[in-house]
Amino acid sequence: MTECWRLDDARQTLALASTGGLCPQVIYWGAPLPMNEDLTALTQVSTLDVTGGMLDQNPDLSLCPEASRSFPGQPGLIVRDQDGTPLLPKFHLDHVNQTDLGLTVTCKDEANRLTYVAAFELDPETHVIAMTAALTADRPLHLHWLAAPVLPAPQHAEDMIDFAGRWCGEFQMNRTAWSPGIRYRENRTGRTGHEHFPGLIIPCLRATNTTGEAFAFHYGWSGGHRMIAEELPDGRRQIQFGHAARMETAPATEFRTAPLYAVYSSDGLNGCAVSFQRHLRDRIVTWTDRGRPRPVHYNCWEAVYFAHDLPVLKDIATRAAALGAERFVLDDGWFGQRDDDTSSLSDWEVDPRKYPDGLGPLIDYVHAQDMSFGIWFEPEMINPNSNIHRAHPDWALGAEDQILGRQQKALNMALPEVRAFLYDRISALLSAYPIDYIKWDHNRVLPLPDADQTRGSYALIDRLRADFPHVEIESCASGGGRIDFGILRRTQRVWLSDSNDALERLKMQHNASLFLPAAVTGSHVGPRSCHTSGRVLDIEFRGWVAAQRHMGFEMDPRELTAHEADVLGEITTWWKQNRDWMETADILRLDASDPSLIAEQQQSRDGSRFVLFAGRADTSSQIAPRPLRLTRLEHDARYEISLRNRASATQLSRGKLALKDGPVTLTGAALMHNGITLPWSFPQSMWVLEGRKL
Ligand code: DGJ
Repeated sequence: MTECWRLDDARQTLALASTGGLCPQVIYWGAPLPMNEDLTALTQVSTLDVTGGMLDQNPDLSLCPEASRSFPGQPGLIVRDQDGTPLLPKFHLDHVNQTDLGLTVTCKDEANRLTYVAAFELDPETHVIAMTAALTADRPLHLHWLAAPVLPAPQHAEDMIDFAGRWCGEFQMNRTAWSPGIRYRENRTGRTGHEHFPGLIIPCLRATNTTGEAFAFHYGWSGGHRMIAEELPDGRRQIQFGHAARMETAPATEFRTAPLYAVYSSDGLNGCAVSFQRHLRDRIVTWTDRGRPRPVHYNCWEAVYFAHDLPVLKDIATRAAALGAERFVLDDGWFGQRDDDTSSLSDWEVDPRKYPDGLGPLIDYVHAQDMSFGIWFEPEMINPNSNIHRAHPDWALGAEDQILGRQQKALNMALPEVRAFLYDRISALLSAYPIDYIKWDHNRVLPLPDADQTRGSYALIDRLRADFPHVEIESCASGGGRIDFGILRRTQRVWLSDSNDALERLKMQHNASLFLPAAVTGSHVGPRSCHTSGRVLDIEFRGWVAAQRHMGFEMDPRELTAHEADVLGEITTWWKQNRDWMETADILRLDASDPSLIAEQQQSRDGSRFVLFAGRADTSSQIAPRPLRLTRLEHDARYEISLRNRASATQLSRGKLALKDGPVTLTGAALMHNGITLPWSFPQSMWVLEGRKL
């Protein structure tokens, strides 16, 4: 007998079936099926044939594939009994609870006394399906691996895209061809990491940013994940995500995965991206004050590093405010004896040498410039050269002889006394001063992966958020080393990268928009000569790249020429005039036919306006620019488009282009199918095209 269930929204159907009382499998996920579809018949016709050299029946690719049922690939659960004996779970369906948009599947293994629960929740507006798996037992077990509910991957796909990165080079896309066997990513660093963003996209044949079918996944956990994308010998493909293996360091009676967020799109990678952007912004992030526009930041790190000097900081604050900054963030260097990065982490008390009267005079001054005040912490970290380490060496995580990272160790966040200490120090500062923002850093990998560490960090942040609900937090880890929906449940911004090089940033933030909306993605105007690349970039390019996301400045404003300050002031004013709608806009990656162009269209939710940022990363191989096709416009509607920075056309752009003279009106059809031809431009420059539906 076959039992079936389905979840539907306007975009998709997810159908599950259990035959013979076994653990159910996803038999279909994709474009909506008619409501009268016979799912039993669909299950039957989808059954794979059997030929020579095969078992007499193909084992199900269930929500938790079981080794005990001859499953020919990686199992969804690897667990040992109390005494270390490997268990071979064999589940039977117990019951399914169904609501309009949710399914909870409970399976039991009577012999091993295990219960497995897979839960699905479909959001009909964002079209994201959030799914978790849980395992319970009547005695403590040792967990090696538990996958979130396992999904089949399409066979009409040639490639998969996942993400790698490094310090100052986050969100690099890797395309790998499907082939028999496993594409396996496992992050054992104990934090989300630059190296292994927990995401995967499967573009079906011929899919691009704007067209075709695609499936995408994100595992919302900050402690390191494992991803298995496996093609079985029979051709079927499975996707597994979970915590990195062996992260549960103690036996327990209950284990739970983080949510796996999955999206199906019938309109290219952008369909997945927009779903994730909206879901993150509208469902995951807990905003402190939804009505408050995102303030323009000033962060002093690349201006002063550890050399905090009150008169200098005041001078910088005056200039930052004049440029349009609305929040001043005091970075590393204000506490302990922190004159470089070799000491003082954990000594979270204001340095009286630098601030003899505490932070009050600086904060008062910043407030007088109409800016709010934010401050840097790196709570999970401790320098061996710190008073706290001398007093509590046992608070550090890992062995005595571990390799340090940036001269520091991590604190053991599983220890309640460590969390209590951190809470006391941070809350003392938040209570003593009017601070509305924390930049929360995490600059080294852990000496070992341990899920308790991540849970400890989450608990500390949750407690602080509950007691200081007006304080926003930015997740930073040497730039983008801790970006995921788990940390973003408790924070409101990410520091995407330590690279303030606008050219690098242009690429990174474009790729990151596959998951992140502009509202959470910090982007700062860096120094003229970039500190992490040595590149010298024009202020207009630097300004527009920052204006693509949550804008801020991080250079020393004393270096700006009058011209640079004017340009930056103008771009910042533009950003402020547009941030209301841009904050909730969809970021749509365009399919530029010129590979040197990185172009995106940010479109308001109601489709009434858009801004197109066309970043020229490099010189083109072709002499004249190719047309750039827009996307998701109304076919018959007329749009007035206008090149915002047309005055920036160089003398080498000699042609008579209408866009250089003023606004032009075209239909959506023309803009999407013909595209627009932008003026010739220098590399490392940006055209900004504004569009309004008439
Ligand atoms: C790493 C961060 O990513 C930087 O922005 C800065 O805050 C430094 N840490 C401070 O030590």
